[in-house]
Amino acid sequence: TSYDEAFRGQFHFSSRAGWMNDPNGSFWYRGQYHLFYQHNPHGLAWDTMHWGHATSPDLVHWTQKPIALEPGVHAGDLWSGNGVVDTANVTGLKNGADDPILVFSGTNGATIHYSLDGARTFQTYGGGRKVAVPAGTSRDPKVFWHEPSRRWVMVMWSDGGGNGADFYTSADLLNWTWRSRYAAGWFFECPDMFQLPVDGNAADRRWVLTDASGEYVTGDFDGTTFLPRTAVRRMDHGANDAGGTFYAGQTFLGDPRGRVVQTVWQPAARGSVWSGNLTFPAELALRTGTDGVSLTRTPVDELASLRSGTVTLSDRTVTPTTPVSPAAADTYEVTAVFDAASATATRFGLRLHARADGTYDRAVTYDRAARTLYGAPLAPENGRVTMRVLVDRGQLEVFGNGGAVSISDVVRFDSAAGSQGLQAYAEGGSVRLVSLRFDRLGSAWG
Ligand code: FRU
Repeated sequence: TSYDEAFRGQFHFSSRAGWMNDPNGSFWYRGQYHLFYQHNPHGLAWDTMHWGHATSPDLVHWTQKPIALEPGVHAGDLWSGNGVVDTANVTGLKNGADDPILVFSGTNGATIHYSLDGARTFQTYGGGRKVAVPAGTSRDPKVFWHEPSRRWVMVMWSDGGGNGADFYTSADLLNWTWRSRYAAGWFFECPDMFQLPVDGNAADRRWVLTDASGEYVTGDFDGTTFLPRTAVRRMDHGANDAGGTFYAGQTFLGDPRGRVVQTVWQPAARGSVWSGNLTFPAELALRTGTDGVSLTRTPVDELASLRSGTVTLSDRTVTPTTPVSPAAADTYEVTAVFDAASATATRFGLRLHARADGTYDRAVTYDRAARTLYGAPLAPENGRVTMRVLVDRGQLEVFGNGGAVSISDVVRFDSAAGSQGLQAYAEGGSVRLVSLRFDRLGSAWG
């Protein structure tokens, strides 16, 4: 199986073969990021869930590993969940050089599986006895450490007479006590929860609770009860559903640089032998804007290791008859700053995979009247609109004004040699292109 095929992400993770959906159990352990994922190795549709596994030293270059959890070998429905490293050996399971690694999975309660050899092999704990069993339908446990109360916390989606999140705590990761329920109609599947400083201010840290469709609230969490402080917001403006382009995101625990890094399933992506891929890992932050505190998403800077062929230009006037064509490539990254304040163009932006005959595969457009970037609401910042785009063979990620908005998309780009043009363009008038930086992005697959 080759990764070098049409529509296959060259720097977006996909399973070497078969179906993938949600990322699971994302954590860092002794020099490697571990990523597990909902996986059907037998076909290109959702069926008989396994946990696939891959590792990376840098969130960019991934190595496919053998399947981690498999029906018949491991107990329970092997549905979404997460993993933690028990560095303090609170489980008492340690019996060698490696720290115990626990993963939580399953439906209608969580099943525990653990590894004592650094995530190479897993066994089911306690004969598959379920822990943390809320009333009604439930799934998708997320376990994390809460430092102030010095306890492990599990948050799980459940439908106990309406959507909500159930919170449990544990001292030993094996026995769990129910603490509270946050009932919220908007909240559906695959919770994630993490703490971030507001505007980088370590004294003002807030908790963020997210669901599968990329909605979130920020609030306070004392280790047992979550109190939202804000209205529900959306962290991405792609098609945020299980058939779309951004669903069931999870963040990595234990990032060695202390970041909160997220990767998200892109359901609509598919190729000849694989189905589904992940967004490029993005660093999350909380930033205060004119409409309050919201999440920003920025591709992790490790992406730089794939760059080559840099082209920069500045201060160009773009008109309908004089587009600017800085480069041509198959997979690449562009950051373009436009002066929206002085523009007479009604719409301007970037045309991707443009051809000599004037056609192109996709335009990333800022619409001045609607104040939208590629459909997402975005006001100019200091009169300017910055658009950063990651273009892969079948994936397009658009970031506006430093990650204030993101739009994760799936586009089946035509990678033929005559179809790789990049163009800055304007409609209905002119716009000043303040600066543009282009970098070709090489393949992350070895
Ligand atoms: C989300 C989801 C999860 C479930 C998993 C099963 O896409 O429905 O709620 O655990 O997929 O594969």
